[in-house]
Amino acid sequence: MSRILGGIGIAHTPSMGYQYDKGVREGFDPKWQPWYDGTRPVKQWLREKRPSHMVVIYNDHMNYFDLKAYPTFAIGVAAHFPQADEGYGLRPFPGVDGDPDFAWPIARSLVRDGFDLTFCQELELDHGVYSWLPYLFDAPWPLKVLPIAVNMLMHPVPTPQRLHALGASLRRALLNDGANRDVVVLATGGMSHQIHGTKFGLTNEKWDRYFLDAIEQRQDELVATPVEEIMQVAGTEAAELAMWYTMRAALAVSARTHYSFYTLPAVTGCGVIALDEPEPRG
Ligand SMILES: [Fe+2]
Repeated sequence: MSRILGGIGIAHTPSMGYQYDKGVREGFDPKWQPWYDGTRPVKQWLREKRPSHMVVIYNDHMNYFDLKAYPTFAIGVAAHFPQADEGYGLRPFPGVDGDPDFAWPIARSLVRDGFDLTFCQELELDHGVYSWLPYLFDAPWPLKVLPIAVNMLMHPVPTPQRLHALGASLRRALLNDGANRDVVVLATGGMSHQIHGTKFGLTNEKWDRYFLDAIEQRQDELVATPVEEIMQVAGTEAAELAMWYTMRAALAVSARTHYSFYTLPAVTGCGVIALDEPEPRG
């Protein structure tokens, strides 16, 4: 069995990545400095946890998959995942290493539990991963990544209940995988934002802060909230928050918040939470 060390929920947005690259070159924009500063404790937490592997639940933004055929759930089983070029060139970071020996048993276990995943022997990762990655780790990335991509773009998207069940299944898989890895489970999805239509620019700091608080011990309350309701109050793209339920359900019910932080630099609510698994198995 592998040991689950803890979980992270974190926002992503293209500007987060852009502002990182600009910030390390020229100093951070005053609006983005709080996000850089606010992610330092998570980076330190990861340094102390020393995970060997990280399961990442994220969504692609039509930079690898497209609307011709959009998989509901896809799992990356490759040994390496390059960065996706989103149209303005690659950022100065290496690709991410995977671990097929870790990935396949997890994939098989999820299928046995009823999650019919698309297996990706090639997969490029867009800002759904790369926008936050350098805030949490220094390159070359010190751990192997198992990406699980969720369709959050082409409706109907998976229900909150389904995403929660995926997390519970992931937990079973990790604790029975016959491997001996130290694992952090991370889910990423933008907090409140809407980037099209008449409500372009909608954000909802109150909702975001409620979400960050409730994910720890009131996940049932969140999961019971239809995605459509989140889209109404927090913007259509805030539907991505439902992926955080997968991370939460992969942890023990008794997992507790080690740290959380929120800021709203521009367009998208940026929050992060790190949860400690109470008794790492081993
Ligand atoms: Fe996104």
